[in-house]
This record gives sequence, C-alpha cells and structure tokens, in this order.
Amino acid sequence: MSQSAADAAFSKGLEGIIAGETSVCSIEQGGLFYRGYEIHDLAQNATFDEVAFLLLEGHKPSASELARFKGEIRAERPIPASVTQFLKDAGPALKAGTAVPMDVLRTGVSMLGHLDADCQSVSADANMRKAKRLLAKIPTIIGQMQNVIDGRPIVAQETGGDPSLDHAANLMYLMSGQKPSPDYARVVDVSLILYAEHDFNASTFTARVIAGTLSDMHGAVCGAIAALKGPLHGGANEAAMEMLKEIMHDVGEAGIGTDKVDSWMQRAFDTKRKLMGFGHRVYKNGDHRAPILHKLGRAIAQNDTKNPGGHPALQWFKLGEQVQKIMLEKKNIHPNVDFPCGLTYYTMGIPVPQYTPIFVASRITGWCAHVLEQHANNRLIRPLSKYVGEPTRSWNG
Ligand code: SDX
Repeated sequence: MSQSAADAAFSKGLEGIIAGETSVCSIEQGGLFYRGYEIHDLAQNATFDEVAFLLLEGHKPSASELARFKGEIRAERPIPASVTQFLKDAGPALKAGTAVPMDVLRTGVSMLGHLDADCQSVSADANMRKAKRLLAKIPTIIGQMQNVIDGRPIVAQETGGDPSLDHAANLMYLMSGQKPSPDYARVVDVSLILYAEHDFNASTFTARVIAGTLSDMHGAVCGAIAALKGPLHGGANEAAMEMLKEIMHDVGEAGIGTDKVDSWMQRAFDTKRKLMGFGHRVYKNGDHRAPILHKLGRAIAQNDTKNPGGHPALQWFKLGEQVQKIMLEKKNIHPNVDFPCGLTYYTMGIPVPQYTPIFVASRITGWCAHVLEQHANNRLIRPLSKYVGEPTRSWNG
C-alpha cells in the first residue's frame, strides 16, 4: 500500500521506527543477542573467528567448519600489489594528518572491489566469497597502512600475516610486527566480538540502503565505512580517548580523583559539549558491551608496566571511571562501548587513529551479514520526507 507524506509517521533521526526485519541480531534493554546467543556468553566462551562464522554463515560452527573457515580466511589475507602501492602513496598525507586512516581504508576497500572478480554479482555465493575476502583483507590494509606511517618494512606482505594467528592477534601483528601476548590477543579478540554486530546502527543501515538498490557489497561497505567514521558513531572510540587526553592535560595526574575533574565536566555541561563515548540511541540504561570491555581493559592496565602518554596505564582508567561517575550522577548518561574501548586500546599502545579502522575489522562481519540478508529478500529502501520548505509559488511571480 502506498502512503503519502501527509499521513505518514515522522520521527527525527528515525528514532523508534522499525525500518526492516533481521535475523542477524536483536537488541533489547535487557540484552544483546547475535543470532540468539547473548553477548556475555559469546564474550566469555567464543572467539571472534567463531562469531564471524556465526554471523556470516548463520549458525555456530562445528570444529571442522571452523577449521575450513579459518583456512579460507587465511588464504585471502594478502592484498593486491596495487593496493599496497596506494597505501605507500598515501603515507605523506597520513603522516601530515590531512588523510586519516578511515578514509584511506575506505579507498583501499573500494580498490579491492574493482579488483574482485565477483564484484558485480549480488548472488548469495558471490556475496559470501566477497564477505570472506573483505574480512581477511581489511586487517592487511590496516596493518600495511600502520607500517607505512611508522616507516617500517611491510610486515608479512606475501602472506598477510602469520598463519598460526587468528584474526585479532594477526591484526596486532600486522600493525606492529610484534606478536601480542596471549592476554593482549584475548582482550582484542573480545573487543572484536563486542564490535561485530549491532542491528540497524547507522553504518549497517547505510550498507542495507546501498545493497537495497541491488548495488554491490564493496560499494555497501565503502558507504558503511564512511558512516562509521563519524564521531557520533564509530569515530567515538578515537574521540573519547582524545577527550580523556584533553582532561588529563587540563587537570594533571594529580587532579584525578579531585574536584578539578568535576569542574572540567561542569564547564563541558555549561557549554553543552557532547561527551564522547557516552549515550546511545537505543540503550537508555547502559550499553551491555561497555562493562565487559571495561573490566578486561582495567585488568590489562592493572598489570601493565608501560607508561601510556606519560602516565601509568591505571591512571587513565581511574580518570575514565571518575568521568563516568560524574556523567551518571549529573546527567544519568551511561558510557557506550567506545569509551572503554578507547581506554583499553590506549593502554595497549595502539595508535589512536586506528581505533575506528579496528572497529571496521570487526563490524565487516555484521555489515556483510546484513548485505547478504538484504539481497536474499530485497526491497528498495525508500522512505518519505516531511516537506518544510516554501509553499507552492509561481516562477514568473
Ligand atoms: C556507536 O546505533 C548503534 O548501535 C551504534 C553503536 C554500534 O555498535 O553500532 O552502538 C556504536 O555509535 C555508539 C555511540 C558513539 N557515539 C558517541 O559516543 C558520541 C556521543 N554520544 C552522543 O552524541 C549521543 O548519545 C548519540 C549520538 C550516541 C545518540 O544520540 P541521540 O539518540 O540522538 O540522543 P540526543 O543527541 O538527542 O541526546 C538526548 C539528550 C540530549 O539532552 P537534551 O537536549 O534532551 O537535554 O541526551 C544528551 C543530549 O544533549 N546527551 C548527551 C550525550 N548523549 C546524549 N549529552 C552530553 N554528552 C553525550 N554524549
């Protein structure tokens, strides 16, 4: 049944509107579920590679299915030489800060599209092959980009990593040339589990809108990367850490736990500043993922001998906890997953501009699962708008 704008419901930002059906994920105030599995269960008992299989293939993998899947991903890790060359060419702009890793990653994925033999097909088989290639190659792009920024030779260029390492550990290895400790690898693995999927968030919805025109998967993923980059969405993990650095700079390490932090926050409230890593369109009583990552990140910080940003790692968590407490007391707003993510990745020494690309290395699974679902049962996504412009008038007056 068609509907005119005059009698349709309107909600700014589509808040509260059900815009489609999905069997990939459900979000409730009481829980987050990937294909029926609750997020605490997955964070505790699954690996990211298993969750990637679950999201893409639709069920929990058997041991042999997982081994097959991991083999397929490993084989697809290398990227074409022309993409490596593009990353090298982007080096000066990345170092100067005129290009940011999310933009370079988006272009890299776009190049992968026109080099992919399946690019123009939207069949289920072609889409699955492309999803696996994207999952495999995105860490290689991120790793090579970081190598270029740091001025080290490309790590494992021929293989796209170390075949003994799973997705998360391999990503860390590709970025730094160092294999992470089992503790660090597990924390990054869990962060990727938590980031993998979140129903109709802005980037996934973007991917579905693009896929809904019967456009291709790489195009949908490029659009999704652009949407995720924004600080109101995935870019918040970088913005949250930048904000904490600003607070630390202003109050000093000695100011943590004192009313200097309260005063900083009050100034932010007075100027109606958005506090990055806080709030959520759907969760009003807290993001289920945030405490899981906070606990793991804090444990890493507690045992850490490194000195991130000139301060002991635990001090950053103490500052973050004070900020959280003030936000809850004064505004009744909880942290979202990006807040502990920023703290955790910072403690681990991961460069801040790569936090959102790492989000991509995980969310690619959710995006591709949604593109597969959209193409399998497609209808063009085309809402109405509420016209608020000039009344009808004549060109000749
Ligand atoms: C992600 O959708 C998803 O599922 C996304 C995600 C995923 O996994 O895909 O979960 C990942 O994107 C997490 C969100 C990351 N973004 C940020 O951390 C940026 C900071 N947060 C916000 O700007 C905000 O909370 C949003 C964008 C997340 C949600 O915005 P809404 O739903 O449009 O809410 P709003 O901006 O209309 O805020 C409602 C009220 C306002 O106060 P009043 O005008 O009613 O008095 O709450 C206040 C806001 O000012 N508010 C904040 C705030 N968040 C909400 N005030 C200060 N700082 C904040 N962060």
